Amino acid sequence: MKSKITANKRFIIGDIDRRIYGSFIEQLGRAVYEGIYEPDHPTADDQGFRGDVLELVRKLNVPIVRYPGGNFVSGYNWEDGIGDRSKRPKRMDLAWGAVDSNQVGIDEFQEWAKRAGSEVMMAVNLGTRGMDEARNCVEYCNSKADSYYANLRRANGFDEPFGIKVWCLGNEMDGPWQLGHKTAEEYARLAAEAAKVMKRADNTIQLVACGSTGYGRIGDWEYKVLDETYPFVDYVSLHTYFDNKENNTPKFLARSEEMHEYINGVVAYCDALKAKKKAKKTINLSYDEWNVWFHSQQQDALNKDRDRWTEARHQLEDVYNFEDALVVGCMLMTLQNHSDRVKMACLAQLVNVIAPIMTEKGGKAWAQTIFYPFFYGSNYGNGATLRTMIETDTYDVAGYRREVPYLVSSVIYNAEAGELVVYAVNRSLDEDMELELDIEGFASRKLFEHLELYHDDLKAINDKDVERVAPAKVEINADGSIVLKKHSWNMLRFKVD
Ligand code: AHR
Repeated sequence: MKSKITANKRFIIGDIDRRIYGSFIEQLGRAVYEGIYEPDHPTADDQGFRGDVLELVRKLNVPIVRYPGGNFVSGYNWEDGIGDRSKRPKRMDLAWGAVDSNQVGIDEFQEWAKRAGSEVMMAVNLGTRGMDEARNCVEYCNSKADSYYANLRRANGFDEPFGIKVWCLGNEMDGPWQLGHKTAEEYARLAAEAAKVMKRADNTIQLVACGSTGYGRIGDWEYKVLDETYPFVDYVSLHTYFDNKENNTPKFLARSEEMHEYINGVVAYCDALKAKKKAKKTINLSYDEWNVWFHSQQQDALNKDRDRWTEARHQLEDVYNFEDALVVGCMLMTLQNHSDRVKMACLAQLVNVIAPIMTEKGGKAWAQTIFYPFFYGSNYGNGATLRTMIETDTYDVAGYRREVPYLVSSVIYNAEAGELVVYAVNRSLDEDMELELDIEGFASRKLFEHLELYHDDLKAINDKDVERVAPAKVEINADGSIVLKKHSWNMLRFKVD
């Protein structure tokens, strides 16, 4: 099979905001306890953070990490996680049926984020709580004033404000599963008023309003929420998890097309409201939860009552296989290809809970299959995304969609490094693909690296002892021809002038 990408250096979609390579740590399962924090671990640092995990997170080069939830935040008291640790209350977490000792809260997490080389994207509780706690939290984290919460932070040992720039106005408030779930009207009013006081406490912060949870749900929610919050917010959120419960790999690999349509849909709502309001400001998108999630769901349902009301329950511990990595690769390319409007995104999540990094208590930390497309995206996918014209064969998935392109790609020009990076997935399960590139605007272009993620077995996994799915170098052909193996993810790096 043959495919062709046509592009031009001058025709760009947008500059990539590095925050699209963000991730997410929720106070859930073993993400925090036994994940990032394990004081007895042999690699633990002076604050009890696992050094082996920090090393892997630094490798992933994650510029921003959302915290502390997720569903968890909608029942959370942020004040429980500050100050003297011996006095912190143990609380029932009603979102996930666990108990949280609060040994890690924002005091510790902001320090962990620094050590990881990331900034914090903080979410406030607009489920069981409201605007008062939200503005107090902004004051505690960010204020230099001689005022109660800023002084409380100082008394807790932090003279300097944490300087948290990005704040989420709740989490998935459209969902009946959410503690304090609201109608669009209820949420819209609350979010607007919370936003107002939060920005009065610190007018440099950026705010994310909750969009609806998933493409299937968008519509009235976006319209009503943006209608009310438009002057106060900067972003609207999107969340997506794909699964292969049907074991239909051609369909699973095609799912990233939905993500593309979802983004276009939310952009349309943002711009409709912009036009309605004759606003100068453009609302951009924060895709602050995205991933594959399904492997652990059956087990979690069976274990629903086991270890209930304990800390660090084994929950959402998906073990990812090779085809999941292909889907994650396609999803990341979709985000890159919308660099004009998607300015932040969080791979959900980062450690142990539907995560690229897994740990065992007291033992190893290792990279799951999905680690690799994210790692190469985050480390090399910087610069401007080019607009492309793709010529490729297509396939139909009965009962789902027609004309799914075999080739998924993104083309990124990094002017500073003098590099052009092409990411590509060949969705065909049977045929290799010859790839032709016709990219104008460069005096010269030389391929110097071709990395491939491939395994014969689509269900191959990595575990703590064996890394079966890992990228390999592909030998570069003297004639410049490029072949993308059947069901493979690829990164091609060119030196350009
Ligand atoms: O990431 C896991 C959960 O998925 C989050 O808590 C919630 O926001 C979403 O439904």
